[in-house]
Amino acid sequence: MESQSSDNNQRKELKDNESEKSYIDYLEKKISILENKRQRKNIKIQKKKQEIKNLINEITHLKELPLQTGTMLEILESENAYKAIIADSLGHEFVVNVSSNILRENLMPGKMVALNQRNMTIIEILPDNIDPFIQAMELVDNIPDISYENIGGLNNQIQEVRETVELPLINPLLFKKVGIDPPKGVLFYGSPGTGKTLLAKAVAHETKATFVRIVGSELVNKFIGEGARMVRDIFLLAKKKAPTILFIDELDALAGERLESDYGGDREVNRTLIQLMAELDGFNNRENVRIIAATNRIDIIDQALLRPGRFDRLVFFPIPNKDTREKIFQIYLNRLNIEENFDLKKIINLTEDMTGADIKAICIEAGMFAIRDNNDIIKDEYIFKAINKIKDIRKINKEEKKIYS
Ligand SMILES: Nc1ncnc2c1ncn2[C@@H]1O[C@H](COP(=O)(O)OP(=O)(O)O)[C@@H](O)[C@H]1O
Ligand SMILES: [Mg+2]
Repeated sequence: MESQSSDNNQRKELKDNESEKSYIDYLEKKISILENKRQRKNIKIQKKKQEIKNLINEITHLKELPLQTGTMLEILESENAYKAIIADSLGHEFVVNVSSNILRENLMPGKMVALNQRNMTIIEILPDNIDPFIQAMELVDNIPDISYENIGGLNNQIQEVRETVELPLINPLLFKKVGIDPPKGVLFYGSPGTGKTLLAKAVAHETKATFVRIVGSELVNKFIGEGARMVRDIFLLAKKKAPTILFIDELDALAGERLESDYGGDREVNRTLIQLMAELDGFNNRENVRIIAATNRIDIIDQALLRPGRFDRLVFFPIPNKDTREKIFQIYLNRLNIEENFDLKKIINLTEDMTGADIKAICIEAGMFAIRDNNDIIKDEYIFKAINKIKDIRKINKEEKKIYS
């Protein structure tokens, strides 16, 4: 009986041991599962923390004021500090501090800079290639290869331009001695294709001056909100590169009559125009920069631009007469391989009302007809065909203008 009981006890103990062991096993498993869970939660927390950090960053970023742009004009140096004069996009000038992490030697006049809006400190020098005004104008360093000989007729116009633009650039001392100021601005006007751009290029060629060409419509359409600043920068550049001929083509796009309107686009054009007049007024006649502007629409040019001291010399470019047409034809036909004894008189009579641009187009078309005909000599029949073609194109253009105006 005794032994039985002890046997029982032993068995019970064994059983208890076993269940304890499996219980421990069970607990250990549970621990490892929980541990696993904890790790996963931890990772989640880390992720959330990073998210919060990113969001806070973004909020501060969004709260930051945008930087303003300006143009460096000059450095002001004192004992051991220096400041800078800059111009903002409206042309207002400020004396400002320069952030200490900007290298003094990188801060050159003409550079675009980014400014803190609150205190206008220069924070950054912007790379040159983001300065958009370079795209608005053509800085023609290799001056166009056009001389006065390439121009048919326009003798009075050429003479006028030589006296008012070329002579002051070539011989500024002469004007100083005599005591008169050459005119600041000359305005070419006349129908499209009458040689205005051509003559401006020829003067640049003859004077070997820097030739800067800007196109009014591009200034207005491409650089909305920037027109006034562009005008300012362009004048700065013209002075820096002097002697310079600054050629403003399609002036009417900038200087159509100021409309009494609140419409944003018009206000923008007005600001550009006002800036242009301010530049002309603030301009020293004896500075070695001459300004030529051109327009096909003198009728809509703001009268204020034509006041003395601005564009006070007007040069008219007429539709060429018979003699001039002959001269222009000779210029372009001379370059072509043309049939002998062709009838120039007849050609000239057929081209009444045509401009220099039309005549050039006729000669190119005549060459195309020859090529199409497998002919290396231009017969006058090709020229007649070309005249008709150009006439047709002009008729279509006129009708389109009627429809869209
Ligand atoms: N008087 C001229 N003599 C020679 N070519 C001319 C003349 N007038 C115009 N042309 C030709 O027509 C083209 C267009 O003329 P352009 O000077 O651009 O006209 P505008 O500026 O008056 O609209 C010129 O590139 C030139 O080839
Ligand atoms: Mg032109």
